[in-house]
Amino acid sequence: MKTPVHIAVTGAAGQISYALMFRIIEGALAGPDQPVVLHMLDVPGAMKDLEGIEMEMQDCASPLLAGVVITDDPKVAFENADMAFLVGARPRGPGMERQDLLHVNAEIFSTQGKALNEVAQQGVKVLVVGNPANTNALIALKNAPKLSPKNFSAMTRLDHNRAISKLARHSECAIDDIRQIIIWGNHSSTQYPDLHHALIKGKPALDGVDEIWFREHFISCIQKRGAEVIAMRGKSSAASAANAALEHMRSWIVGTPDDDWVSMAIYSDGSYGIAEDLIYSFPVRIKNGDYEIVQGLPIDDFSMDRMRLTEKELVMERDMVKHLF
Ligand code: NAD
Ligand code: LMR
Repeated sequence: MKTPVHIAVTGAAGQISYALMFRIIEGALAGPDQPVVLHMLDVPGAMKDLEGIEMEMQDCASPLLAGVVITDDPKVAFENADMAFLVGARPRGPGMERQDLLHVNAEIFSTQGKALNEVAQQGVKVLVVGNPANTNALIALKNAPKLSPKNFSAMTRLDHNRAISKLARHSECAIDDIRQIIIWGNHSSTQYPDLHHALIKGKPALDGVDEIWFREHFISCIQKRGAEVIAMRGKSSAASAANAALEHMRSWIVGTPDDDWVSMAIYSDGSYGIAEDLIYSFPVRIKNGDYEIVQGLPIDDFSMDRMRLTEKELVMERDMVKHLF
């Protein structure tokens, strides 16, 4: 039997975590022979909910569940964590931008960054899902000086998946026919879903897709998909977000296929002329648990303008939370 891995999930009583954690204990994240200890963190008023969730986990009789920790203390939640899903944060409602959540959610991530710094494993993989995810990840990173910036990431995998699905439906091809989608920048309405490097069955996607559809429909559709779901459900996306969180972390562990990459919001090293010291979504290839930004892609003026716009928003968000660094 392998040694269990410790996986922390914050906002464990919320809707995304509910869709995420049962898949984790079935082996969909760490593999079918890897035991897990799940650390569930939420606010003090949610402890009874977490006890109920633990009862349901017991009732799954999963052979992989090696233990459960329930807590409202981040230092208990992140103790020895190998992976941490930072989901807990307020979601936006109809008519709000994700950035509107910055002042209500930012402090959560400075506290949790400090706790990760103190008690998590040195190699902990941190995924921030709570919005505004990129800047919350930057706050957590800045409060964790003992960890490397490479430990921290934010989620644009949902946007990446949305872009694949939209392109497949438009092009009437299979999901598996598509490769090399990119989401650049912020998980917000300024993100730039880029098809210039995408392939369908090995051929440039834009060869078979109307450029006007790409420029005037596709981009804004992906940018606004989260709001569209909120308008229909009255709540933000949950199952698709949990699925994307699981896939993001799984790619980070097992790597990307030779002929593809994934989008991850990570600490910018200045690649493609994007400002350093931001959490910006890039195309990355992953091997042995380590990600590298895909280099050398040709970028035209249309793309560069959009990459700059979303960069500008992230710089503005960073300025708004500097007091927490
Ligand atoms: P939810 O309201 O169902 O759950 C949030 C949970 O977080 C609640 O149980 C709440 O008690 C808990 N929480 C609040 N403060 C906390 C703290 N300090 N410590 C621990 N737990 C705390 O919300 P949800 O639908 O699960 O969404 C969670 C977050 O994820 C939101 O910010 C939402 O906007 C974001 N989100 C991001 C993406 C993405 O693609 N990056 C996608 C969907 C949702
Ligand atoms: C999403 O993209 O679905 C989430 O970020 C939730 C939201 O606020 O749109």
